[in-house]
Amino acid sequence: MAVKGIVLAGGRGTRLHPITVAVSKQLLPVSDKPMIYYPISVLMLAGIRDILLISSPDQVPNFVRLLGDGAQFGLNITYAAQESPDGIAQAFLLGADHIGGGPAALILGDNIFHGPSFSDVLEENVRDVSGCVLFGYPVSDPGRYGVGETDASGRLISIEEKPERPRSNRAVTGLYFYDNDVIDIAKNLRPSGRGELEITDVNLAYVRQGRARLVDLGRGFAWLDTGTPEALLQAGQYVQTIELRQGVRIACLEEVALRMGFIDAEQCHRLGAAQAGSGYGQYVMNIASSFRG
Ligand code: G1P
Repeated sequence: MAVKGIVLAGGRGTRLHPITVAVSKQLLPVSDKPMIYYPISVLMLAGIRDILLISSPDQVPNFVRLLGDGAQFGLNITYAAQESPDGIAQAFLLGADHIGGGPAALILGDNIFHGPSFSDVLEENVRDVSGCVLFGYPVSDPGRYGVGETDASGRLISIEEKPERPRSNRAVTGLYFYDNDVIDIAKNLRPSGRGELEITDVNLAYVRQGRARLVDLGRGFAWLDTGTPEALLQAGQYVQTIELRQGVRIACLEEVALRMGFIDAEQCHRLGAAQAGSGYGQYVMNIASSFRG
């Protein structure tokens, strides 16, 4: 059964005020494109074409203006409003109909991933999801994240949300693959001390059943934070550095759609021509032309 994707682009972005008073954090620029392009590209690289985007009621129209129904990228994008940011796991309650009876992939709208052969890593792990697949990444400040602990054999034995004394430096990133049980697990959650339906509690349910897998993204990967003005700027500079050096663009949805076979070169060229006034649009047109050979 095809994996359904969910991008959660909610939250109040309070650590970025006043930047995010009027506009969703996930629409802010990271170098040359809106932040939301990065997580969408990850789902696309995993071969996922049915995507539910969840945001606050006042921001959904902005995402619709940007992405529409996704058909231009060969996707099917639908939208749901999260009335109040009551936790990441609420995505599975809002997204239950969208997920239907199959597996689901959730990605947080502010998570930026970049690394070697990422599409292979994704494809490998999205195939036959039974239980859940989490992605771990070494960080210098694990206390800000969900932190995974493994036993000597590498089996995941615990996850703690924002622990004061982290038991490892392995942050659990904001990309999660689940089998269909995730809906029932989410329905049975109770709000945490901070009043949220915690994604870590969902993951712990799988850990307790011995059905959680942690895939390590090695140090050659970049998993970037965008939560503060400094981190946002650094993420933009990282992307810009690589893009300028290599002459490629990271998370260019038109290019990803073309390479994944979701659209053809003609459509890719049309999408570039519609934004020919920017370097991004020019790049898209060039990609389409070189693809046609
Ligand atoms: C959330 C999750 C946390 C995860 C992080 C990844 O934290 O609760 O487990 O490591 O996303 O971005 P938040 O960003 O809501 O503080």
